[in-house]
Amino acid sequence: MAVKLRALLLVLALSLVQPAAAGRKLLVFLLDGFRSDYISDEALESLPGFKEIVSRGVKVDYLTPDFPSLSYPNYYTLMTGRHCEVHQMIGNYMWDPSTNKSFDIGVNRDSLMPLWWNGSEPLWVTLTKAKRKVYMYYWPAGEGLPQPHLSHSASSRSGRADLAAIYHERIDVEGHHYGPSSPQRKDALKAVDTVLVYMTKWIQERELQDHLNVIIFSDHGMTDIFWMDKVIELNKYISLNDLQQVKDRGPVVSLWPAPGKHSEVYNKLRTVEHMTVYEKEAIPSRLYYKKGKFVSPLTLVADEGWFITENRDTLPFWMNSTGRREGWQHGWHGYDNELMDMRGIFLAFGPDFKSNFRAAPIRSVDVYNVMCNVTGIAPLPNNGSWSRVLCMLKGQASSAPSVRLSSCVLVSILLLLFV
Ligand SMILES: *[C@@H]1O[C@H](CO)[C@@H](O)[C@H](O)[C@H]1NC(C)=O
Ligand SMILES: *[C@@H]1O[C@H](CO)[C@@H](O)[C@H](O)[C@H]1NC(C)=O
Ligand SMILES: *[C@@H]1O[C@H](CO)[C@@H](O)[C@H](O)[C@H]1NC(C)=O
Ligand SMILES: *[C@@H]1O[C@H](CO)[C@@H](O)[C@H](O)[C@H]1NC(C)=O
Ligand SMILES: *[C@@H]1O[C@H](CO)[C@@H](O)[C@H](O)[C@H]1NC(C)=O
Ligand SMILES: [Zn+2]
Repeated sequence: MAVKLRALLLVLALSLVQPAAAGRKLLVFLLDGFRSDYISDEALESLPGFKEIVSRGVKVDYLTPDFPSLSYPNYYTLMTGRHCEVHQMIGNYMWDPSTNKSFDIGVNRDSLMPLWWNGSEPLWVTLTKAKRKVYMYYWPAGEGLPQPHLSHSASSRSGRADLAAIYHERIDVEGHHYGPSSPQRKDALKAVDTVLVYMTKWIQERELQDHLNVIIFSDHGMTDIFWMDKVIELNKYISLNDLQQVKDRGPVVSLWPAPGKHSEVYNKLRTVEHMTVYEKEAIPSRLYYKKGKFVSPLTLVADEGWFITENRDTLPFWMNSTGRREGWQHGWHGYDNELMDMRGIFLAFGPDFKSNFRAAPIRSVDVYNVMCNVTGIAPLPNNGSWSRVLCMLKGQASSAPSVRLSSCVLVSILLLLFV
């Protein structure tokens, strides 16, 4: 966290040296796996950083993720305003039968192929094309896109930024390993809260509150899972040899039956309890998923808390302090996006947002329009609802000129950071 804090402050420092080209400067936090009730009114009482932001700005009741409620699909939905079936990033793991290429959560070489990435243009690419400066720190889901704007260090020190974005994964990781209600997950959240206390003070002390908008959101929530008794092992129902391909494990699993085996596999899986098997055309339209070009002929969706896997050996164990991959997972996400536990957060404060304003729920497709508006760029066609987010913006933007910090201030911040 210390490294990230340093990066954050440097981003702020850099981004404030010169005025923004148009619109105000925007700082974005993506907090992976942050469930909406982690900042319930009760929880806020012991989270001074979040509490301050809620009283200063906007908090929506919750943010409904896109289906599946997984990271890559939602990172892309948040940054394009488009549903998964439109931007095509429909899973953390995907397969394209026509090229026999796989996308494995951005880590394999083939994940970089344009095939996966050219379905839609994310906000940071549009901003870069418009000659606006963007800094992305630790941001995932950009692997297959032009890279110069992405940064994993705080080493680039020139120019101004219009958008700085920071990704943080710890809350998701602890939620998976120990469960959403675990002390480990709560500690991870406390650490973020401490950074937010620091950040709001920093903004205040430099009187930047009229020049910088800050938006904080998550990609999805988290629910408890139970590997002791809520695992669905596919090899108990079908022969795995009847499958040409299987992608992902957990709440949503994609199957490509071998030639001639579709009906047999489908009929056998229909009898399995605690999950639903869909043929592509039968996937509910409300999920905005079935039209995706990488959607498999059969999609399995588990009931909440259940975990689908080929067999017990293919469960995604994690390496706990034994140094071996034998740790059980206690939390997961990816389930039906309307489930309460899958809900994420959205908070915002700054000159363009109302203060102390509780807003009705929004959806992950809605966030893009808000970011476009406050950075002053025209949104591309998208699936977000402007009417769901308009209420959180201040009516008329005041035309106060942007502040121009002296380089002395920057130098002193750098000294503070690097000495
Ligand atoms: C598809 O790729 C996999 C793994 O890369 C390989 O094992 C398999 O033989 C390929 N199938 C075809 C039909 O080329
Ligand atoms: C995306 O890339 C693939 C593979 O290069 C290509 O077949 C497809 O037409 C491209 N789609 C768009 C929208 O550019
Ligand atoms: C590692 O994980 C396994 C399975 O969850 C558990 O039984 C074991 O106690 C864990 N070991 C340590 C040292 O945490
Ligand atoms: C942002 O929204 C406001 C309405 O609250 C509107 O007046 C303004 O023109 C929008 N700005 C952009 C760049 O779309
Ligand atoms: C989502 O947005 C895309 C791009 O504007 C559009 O083509 C598509 O029809 C929209 N889908 C829905 C369900 O509104
Ligand atoms: Zn996760």
